[in-house]
Amino acid sequence: MSLLTRWAARRYGGMAVLYERFTEPMERAGLSAIRAGLAADLQGRILEVGCGTGLNFAHYPAGLEVTAIEPIEEFRTFAAERATRARARITVQDGDAQALPFADASFDGALQTLVLCSIPDEAQGLLELRRVLRPGAPVRFFEHVRSTHTFGAVVQDLFNPLWRWAMDGCNINRDTVRTIEMCGFQIEEVEVHDMPGASIFPMRLVRARV
Ligand SMILES: C[S@@+](CC[C@H](N)C(=O)[O-])C[C@H]1O[C@@H](n2cnc3c(N)ncnc32)[C@H](O)[C@@H]1O
Repeated sequence: MSLLTRWAARRYGGMAVLYERFTEPMERAGLSAIRAGLAADLQGRILEVGCGTGLNFAHYPAGLEVTAIEPIEEFRTFAAERATRARARITVQDGDAQALPFADASFDGALQTLVLCSIPDEAQGLLELRRVLRPGAPVRFFEHVRSTHTFGAVVQDLFNPLWRWAMDGCNINRDTVRTIEMCGFQIEEVEVHDMPGASIFPMRLVRARV
């Protein structure tokens, strides 16, 4: 954890509170509505990777059996409390996307939001995700990605070292949609969700299948 994050977390009463304060404007600007639609058509045993404080949990329909992994203990505590109020049955556990503690083909679907930017080896995280999903399983990704404009991408490249340090390993310049495809997922749909005035953070909702 960077010194800046440690200082800010202490000032705001912890990492989880800090994270939710930071994302609250985005949630109000439409992120919450996007979360609401992500899991609507998922069924069966679902894996959520990097669930953070559990901001997707309220949106899982009843009947789903969700396993959520999260490496930060304080986030897990918040998420586990949210899980008790969810309609779906949700279990929160420790885990690393790059070495998932599950057997091959053990899930019917997966969801992850704003996570691929932070996994140290993004491709390894995606290959692991594919391994634990059954053939044909649907996956929903919502991620901020590399700009498609040359100037925007150059700005992202220039700022990325500082951003990654300040934001605890988050990268703003990853070509995530391409990496999803290169890791063998069949992309069915890519929705553009660029926020006005925030062209350094192009957002994509990707519907894919194993
Ligand atoms: C920006 S937060 C997003 C949290 C949550 N998914 C959301 O939408 O609010 C990034 C999350 O990815 C998690 N993360 C980072 N590296 C990870 C890894 N290697 N395996 C699993 N989760 C990871 C972080 O702990 C953090 O909770």
